[in-house]
Amino acid sequence: MAETIATPTISLGSVSRIPLGQGRCYVIGSEEIAVFRQRDGQLFAAQNRCPHRQGPLSEGVIGSGQVICPLHGHKFNLESGAGSEPAECVEVHPIKIVDGEILLDLCRPLLTRASAMRGGVQCETHSEKDQTA
Ligand code: FES
Repeated sequence: MAETIATPTISLGSVSRIPLGQGRCYVIGSEEIAVFRQRDGQLFAAQNRCPHRQGPLSEGVIGSGQVICPLHGHKFNLESGAGSEPAECVEVHPIKIVDGEILLDLCRPLLTRASAMRGGVQCETHSEKDQTA
């Protein structure tokens, strides 16, 4: 079972700061997190830098639960982090709206981070069962 790094939930402010159908980049410590607000209002959060050549995913086209990197068009599923190219994936994070405020949870399995450092050959998603107290 993967271990987790416990971090508090982070408020990113009002959801109205992100227009429908667009993404925004938030810098949290040394991390760049892309937050996407789909046209249907659904929110997603993922690492901002594309694993291909570091393109800014927050500037990509979003829809149907995926983002298309603005540099070379690789696609990433925003629920699973899986990429359209073999061995490419992005870290995704739980995110929700409470009273109009975006709340981001940066807890993540260490295995995902370690896998990313080895070349990102393994995609994992966050889930309640991965969280340890
Ligand atoms: S940098 Fe994203 S597809 Fe190349």
